[in-house]
Amino acid sequence: NNSEEQIHLKAFAWLTKLYHHLLRHTKEGKQAYQYLLDRGFTDEMIDLFQLGYAPQSRELVVQFLEKKGFHTQQMIRAGVLTANEQNQASDRFRGRVIFPIRNHLGKSIGFGGRTITDQEPKYLNSPESALFQKGRLLFNFDLARSTIRNSEQAVLFEGYMDVISAYQAGIKNGVATLGTSITENQAKLLNRYVNTVIICYDGDQAGIDASYKAARLLHQVDCNVKVASIPEGLDPDSYIVKYGENRFQNEIIEVSNTYMTFLMEYLKKDYNLQLEGDRMQYIEKVIDELATIKRPMEREYYAKELANTYDLSINTMMQEIKDRRKKLG
Ligand code: GTP
Ligand code: MN
Ligand code: MN
Ligand code: MN
Ligand code: MN
Repeated sequence: NNSEEQIHLKAFAWLTKLYHHLLRHTKEGKQAYQYLLDRGFTDEMIDLFQLGYAPQSRELVVQFLEKKGFHTQQMIRAGVLTANEQNQASDRFRGRVIFPIRNHLGKSIGFGGRTITDQEPKYLNSPESALFQKGRLLFNFDLARSTIRNSEQAVLFEGYMDVISAYQAGIKNGVATLGTSITENQAKLLNRYVNTVIICYDGDQAGIDASYKAARLLHQVDCNVKVASIPEGLDPDSYIVKYGENRFQNEIIEVSNTYMTFLMEYLKKDYNLQLEGDRMQYIEKVIDELATIKRPMEREYYAKELANTYDLSINTMMQEIKDRRKKLG
């Protein structure tokens, strides 16, 4: 119900302020503040993203919300507070660094909380609610929107840390899904604003597999897709910390691969290209993909590349693509 949502919005707005204040101006928040500084974040970014700290005390937040006129039971229903076994209300994020998650209008509608003491899980998120729907949101979309519109490009990251680190490095068109793979809804949202999405996920197998899934989905909704490649063991944030913003821009973002180049490389993992049978299956698979490309020039470009690499004639290749396109309708 609408007025219930308004109340939740107000509660999240107050909590965002409280958590940020505790981080920046209190002794209790010092360790969390130092944690963020140690990770290389500037005060400017900490303030812009309203990063915060949720206190260890169980009651502080409960009492704060009560004093502001919010009913505790309602706050539990809204997922702002949790109830323990004794049905006592408490703060879900105690002891964690807080990343406010803003909707597209810039209002806090949920939190991500990261441990600063290696607790499991590493991240906690607010639960899903009418207000907070992870599959419909992109972290930082509100701040990134104007840059996305002007540059007609967005960079898609895995995590909050990556988005903020990139923003600090001057890449202001970065967004992230909230710990889940990108949904069709999010892909369509991006496609309304951009020409090109650069996928910039972590440099581990999970990141590469997730890049493949995201690339396919974005390609399906007609985005021009590029895929950046982060060296093994790093992610965009740790890459920037290690090598600096210029190298991130010039050696990662600028040289990101086109959709087909990424795909042709990625699909190889299922085949042993030394074997003739495998090689044939791999080529078939790539041709299937080529057939989904809308621009004729692009289809021909990659068809030529494939034909050259595997010593086939371009005519045969184009005929194969044509047959498949007929079937696709
Ligand atoms: P740092 O380790 O602090 O640098 O964060 P990261 O962004 O590099 O984390 P990681 O690559 O492991 O995960 C990417 C994103 O997935 C995070 O930003 C979270 O949104 C989400 N995520 C990671 N771990 C968890 C978890 O344990 N629980 C939940 N719910 N989400 C997680
Ligand atoms: Mn501030
Ligand atoms: Mn990861
Ligand atoms: Mn990561
Ligand atoms: Mn990281």
